[in-house]
Amino acid sequence: MPPTRTTQPGAQAPAEAVAPLMRGIAVLRRLTDADGSLSLSDLERATGLARSTVDRVTLTLARTGYVRLDGKAVSLAPPLMELGNAYLSSIRLPGLLGDRVDALADELDESVSLAVPDGGDIRFVHQATRRRAMSLSFRIGDLLPAERTAPGALFATCWEPEEWQAWRDRRALDPKGAGFPSLPPRPCPADDLFEDRVDAARAEGWALDDQLIEPGLLALAVPVHDPAGGIACVLSVVSHTSRHSAQGLRDSLLPRLRDAAAVMERRLRDAPPPGPAPAPGALASWTAASKQELGRGFVESLARGLTVITAFGDSGAALTLSAVARATGLSRASARRALITLEHLGYVAVDGRDHRLTPRVLALGYPPLSRITLPRIAQPHLAALAGRIHDSTSLAVLVDDSVQYVARAATHRIMNVNITVGTRFPAYATSLGRVLLADLPASGLGPLLDHAELRPLAPHTLTRRAELEAALERVRTEGYALVDEELEAGLRSIAVPVRDRAGTAVASINVAMHSSSRTIDACLEQVLPELRLTAGSIESELHTAARFTDVAVV
Ligand code: PHB
Repeated sequence: MPPTRTTQPGAQAPAEAVAPLMRGIAVLRRLTDADGSLSLSDLERATGLARSTVDRVTLTLARTGYVRLDGKAVSLAPPLMELGNAYLSSIRLPGLLGDRVDALADELDESVSLAVPDGGDIRFVHQATRRRAMSLSFRIGDLLPAERTAPGALFATCWEPEEWQAWRDRRALDPKGAGFPSLPPRPCPADDLFEDRVDAARAEGWALDDQLIEPGLLALAVPVHDPAGGIACVLSVVSHTSRHSAQGLRDSLLPRLRDAAAVMERRLRDAPPPGPAPAPGALASWTAASKQELGRGFVESLARGLTVITAFGDSGAALTLSAVARATGLSRASARRALITLEHLGYVAVDGRDHRLTPRVLALGYPPLSRITLPRIAQPHLAALAGRIHDSTSLAVLVDDSVQYVARAATHRIMNVNITVGTRFPAYATSLGRVLLADLPASGLGPLLDHAELRPLAPHTLTRRAELEAALERVRTEGYALVDEELEAGLRSIAVPVRDRAGTAVASINVAMHSSSRTIDACLEQVLPELRLTAGSIESELHTAARFTDVAVV
C-alpha cells in the first residue's frame, strides 16, 4: 500500500471544502445505514440538517438519479451504484478475481468472499453467496470491525504502530460497534485476544473466525498477495457449525482455499498494467440538462462533487487533479475543491499528486442496492409508463414454456384478465412470451416448441408451429411482439425485450389493452415508442446494478 494522507474522523473541514457535497454525502450515508430508504423527516433528524436543506439535497440527488422521491419517502436508486462501481473498477480485484471466487463457491457449495482493508476495518468487495436459512450473509460494501473477522486478523499482520493505535482509539470511542450497522450486537472480545489471533495469523498464514460475529458463523480466510508482496485482499469461505466444526473447516477447506489464492495471485501478476486515464467527455447525464430543467433547488456543487467519484471508473490507476478535471469536464478549481472535500471525508486518498478512491465509497449506497432485483428496478418505470398511457404494464420472465409476471403496474380500467405477480401464461400466446422465445438460441427454442402444445385459447391464437416460427422471426427483425386476441378475446398487448449487459433478453415488458381502445396503428405509433423508452431506462439501471453484482430476475 502506498503511503496516504488520511484525515482523522471529526477533524475540522478545510476552508476549501464544499459544504453541499458534505451534506449530500451525509444524506446518502444515512440512507445507506437505514437500508436504503427514510422519510424526509427521519432524514432531517438523522442528519441534523434543516428541513429546507434536506429538501434541496434530496431534490438534487433525485435529479442526478441517485435517489427516488415518492411523496415524503426518499430511497436510494440503482444509478447511485455507479459511485461504488467506479471504486470497484479502479481496484480491479472483482474484475480480475470475481469469476474464481464464484467458481470456488460452486465447488465448495459454501459462501465465498473477498475483503479489503478499510482503515482498521474490513470491507467486502465481492460476495458469492449461498443463501442458507441458518446464517446471515454480508453484502458487497458491508463494513465489519477487524477484530470480529478472519480477514481482519490477516490485514492486521501488516499494521504499523499508528494503525494499532488508530484501532485502539476506535475501540475506545465505539466499544459496542455501533458504527457497524451490519454487525449483529454482541459483547466485544478482549483486545488481547485479537492480538493473539493476529500473531497466529502471521505464523500460520491463515485466520479463522470462530463465531466472532454471531453464534454458528464460521469463516476461514487466506491472504491473496499482490505482486509486490503486500496483501491485495483476503479470500474467505464462510460456513456454519451445523455443517462444519471449526477444525473440520480448516482441515477440509484450507488446502483448496490456498490453491485458489495461488491462482488469484498469478492472475494479479499476469494482469496487464492499468489502462490510461479515462477519456475526456464521460460527463454525468445531468450535465446535459438545462438550468431550467434542473430546477431552482438544484445544488450544482453537490452534483459536481459526486461526478468526481465517477471519474475514477475504468482508470485502474491513480488520477492527478488534471486527469480528474479532464474526465469530468469540471474546471480545475471545482475538481480541486471536490477532491479536497472527498479526501477530508475519507473517500479519496492522496499520495503526492495521485488520487485514489478508498473502499469507503462503497458506503454510499452499495450494500442495500447490491441486493436489488430486476422487478424492483422495473417497478417505478412501469408505474410511470402506466401513468402516461393509462393502460396496465408488466414485466415477465420465461419459466420453461410459460411467462411468469414478476412486476406489474395496473390501471383501474376493467379488464377481463385478472393478472397478478406470479401469474403464468403459455409463452406462445402472449406478447411477453414471444419476445423471450424469439431471443432463445435455436438449440433452446427447438426442443421447447417440440414439447409445447399450441392450444387455441382465443379467437386468433396461432396454433401451427410454422405460423408461430414466422411470428418469432418477425419479432427478431422488428424488436417487438404484438399479440391480438390470442390469449383472450378482446385483449391486445405489445411487448419489447429487457436485455442484460451481454445483450440477452432476460425479461420482457408489455402494455396490455382492450382491443377496442386503440387501433393497431395507434398502438405502434403511441405505445411502442413509450415501451421502448421504458425498456431503455430499466436496462440502463440493470446494467449499472449488474456490473459487479448478480441481479436476480425474480
Ligand atoms: C463473509 O464473507 O461473510 C465473512 C468473511 C469473513 C468473516 C466473516 C464473514 O470473518
